[in-house]
Amino acid sequence: MESIFGISLRRSLSTSLQSWAKQVPNNLKGKSKSSQEWLTRQLADPYVEKAKMMNYRCRSAFKLLEIDDKYSIIKAGDCIIDCGAAPGSWTQVAVERCNANGKQDKKPKGSVYSIDLLHFHSVSGATIFGGMDFTKTESKQKIIKSLGDKPVNCVLSDMAPNATGVRILDQEAIVNLCYDVLYFAVILSAPQANLVMKVWDNGDVPKMEKDLQRFYDKVKRVKPRSSRGDSAEQFFVARGFKGIVSQELAKKS
Ligand SMILES: C[S@@+](CC[C@H](N)C(=O)[O-])C[C@H]1O[C@@H](n2cnc3c(N)ncnc32)[C@H](O)[C@@H]1O
Repeated sequence: MESIFGISLRRSLSTSLQSWAKQVPNNLKGKSKSSQEWLTRQLADPYVEKAKMMNYRCRSAFKLLEIDDKYSIIKAGDCIIDCGAAPGSWTQVAVERCNANGKQDKKPKGSVYSIDLLHFHSVSGATIFGGMDFTKTESKQKIIKSLGDKPVNCVLSDMAPNATGVRILDQEAIVNLCYDVLYFAVILSAPQANLVMKVWDNGDVPKMEKDLQRFYDKVKRVKPRSSRGDSAEQFFVARGFKGIVSQELAKKS
């Protein structure tokens, strides 16, 4: 009996040591405390591993996959704009789902336009605007020129400003980004288009929700399972763009 217990104790000890060893990086020397915490968290995060296995550039892919699986915001043939796209995992998902790479023979081919402040590697099937600030008029003009007269079916924004740590400034920065995205979406969207936009959970969110409801039939605030629990991020999923004409009529009536 003793040996049986001895064996099982050793086995369970070695199993837990193995899984612990997996989660502790061995190259922490000389790294700052925040880098050490980041590395440790990355190793313990199942979505990081899953992203590697599925060839996504980062774990964020699963947030969009989850949102699209639940709310069907992208269909084959759609024209999509991805704001704050680097390193490119949402763009990869958007390309697959709207068939911008034409891999699904029998389905219509979509298109994806992706912009980021950073330069990032191309994604086959997408048009990339790297090193560009979405908030600048010139950047928006470049996207509009590239779109031609194609109406947009879905606008995605995973953009977040660089946090300064000063709460009130950071809040204002993300709210400004969100309204910039909303304005762009309203101008370019086809009727029934969709919008997915990252926000930080704060006092401005209820007002933004009301503003979105003026333009979209259905507006939801979503926290995907793959979004880290300790992050304040949430996503607005706004479906069924009502069109500018109906807005104008509503104002007049
Ligand atoms: C969380 S990351 C996006 C990750 C991306 N969705 C993916 O799946 O690979 C946020 C990105 O927003 C970008 N960003 C922030 N402000 C921006 C702006 N004004 N114009 C363009 N990109 C911006 C940042 O450079 C950063 O790459």
